[in-house]
Amino acid sequence: MPHKLVVQGGVKLNGRVKISGAKNACLPMMAASLLAKGRTVLHNVPNLSDVRLMCEILEELGAKTKYENNTVEIDVQDESITVAPYELVSEMRASFCVLGPMLARRGHAEVAMPGGCVLGVRPVDLHIKGFRALGAKVDVEQGYVRADGSTLQGGHVFLGGPMGPSVTGTCNVLTTAVLTPGVTIIEEAACEPEVQALVEMLNQMGAKIQGGGTPRLVIEGVSELRPTEISVVPDRIEAGTFVLAAAITEGDITLEGVRPDHLGALIDKLRSTGVKFEINGPDSLRVIGPKEPLSVDITTLPYPGFPTDLQSPTMAYLMKAKGLSVVTEKIYPDRFMHIPEYNRLGGTVRKEGNMAIVYGVERLSGCPVKATDLRAGAGLVLAGLAADHTTEVFDLYHVDRGYDNFEGKLAALGAKIERVEFLPRRRAADRSGDAGMRRAA
Ligand code: EPU
Repeated sequence: MPHKLVVQGGVKLNGRVKISGAKNACLPMMAASLLAKGRTVLHNVPNLSDVRLMCEILEELGAKTKYENNTVEIDVQDESITVAPYELVSEMRASFCVLGPMLARRGHAEVAMPGGCVLGVRPVDLHIKGFRALGAKVDVEQGYVRADGSTLQGGHVFLGGPMGPSVTGTCNVLTTAVLTPGVTIIEEAACEPEVQALVEMLNQMGAKIQGGGTPRLVIEGVSELRPTEISVVPDRIEAGTFVLAAAITEGDITLEGVRPDHLGALIDKLRSTGVKFEINGPDSLRVIGPKEPLSVDITTLPYPGFPTDLQSPTMAYLMKAKGLSVVTEKIYPDRFMHIPEYNRLGGTVRKEGNMAIVYGVERLSGCPVKATDLRAGAGLVLAGLAADHTTEVFDLYHVDRGYDNFEGKLAALGAKIERVEFLPRRRAADRSGDAGMRRAA
């Protein structure tokens, strides 16, 4: 049965919250386990449906997996399988990251094209360009990317696209380059902490990569890698969401197991709206929300710029800020599906091309809303925490993809929030059976 989150707004959140490992670091790291036969172990893995799905995909590709107590064990046994089918890849874009490791280690890979998603078009041309620059023969046929790695040779790869570098594109090309003979240089590589985490894992496996966290990666190919054991970096997007939970509820929250240095752009912007921060060491951050938040303009950009994944949660906060804020989306120009839902809650947000104009309002008023994507779902919950009355957030499967025990962590901070099962209402067309079918035809 599906679930919804029921939120009673008006509580100032208070207390401590432990941040989980990063989904977007963990998924490419899990895929990278295919680079070596044997048992790779990842710790600090968040409990998410996307992680469970990646386990299923790795099982299909010849690994045995075990996922318990925030640890994933991946034992790669059969290295003969080279096809990742559409049924699995279409459910999660990050599964495309198995292509690079399979190409490098198994000499061949066929992975279904992931297609578009709720954020817009999302092509994979940069991934393909990178594989070709390393000498792979790549065809796109019948919905699959087919890559042959019999002539791989280190090369010069430029990974910049119209929206900047590609995060999973960098991960994919990097995981091929580590086992490719010769030296590969990746220019305009993504600098996100999730890519840095993958570089650290690969080097621990025996790869020779220099420049992790910079736009220029230099990789000296090696002939073999060994499995490894490593912990996943804290999730900067989950952390940012809890920062915003403190900000929007006038709360006082201390985040633990966090990397404040990964949150620079968010901290800078929110400070100017009146949020107070105390950085207490390398992994603790106290956030105190303002009585009357001020507006601010934000523009999403590749790291270390403002993250697109925090655009919709930040917009929820800006709906209650005094004045007018302009939110410019430079990574996914169509990532604004949440605006109509925010306006149902009493927000006054207008879309203009790749910009949203947010006019701050005195109060939001709870109502039923639908999560349009993972981060929009989190933004709706935040808005519900600050709204009068009750907000019900539907289509929760989006939120479950990327937030480990979201409602449990919020409830521990004092939020009145509950996960409730519900019976979906049958639509008139469903109830009318054959008659309905005939009408539709
Ligand atoms: N792009 C291209 N060609 C490509 C690849 C990307 O033009 O071949 C464009 C995209 O259309 C987009 C921009 O480049 O405009 C950046 O896309 P990128 O490839 O960096 O995105 P991604 O790797 O598919 C990851 C995260 C996303 C996050 C983006 C941007 C994972 C698993 N996903 O996606 O996370 O929004 O980077 O930071 O790492 C989320 O967690 O909610 C989420 C969507």
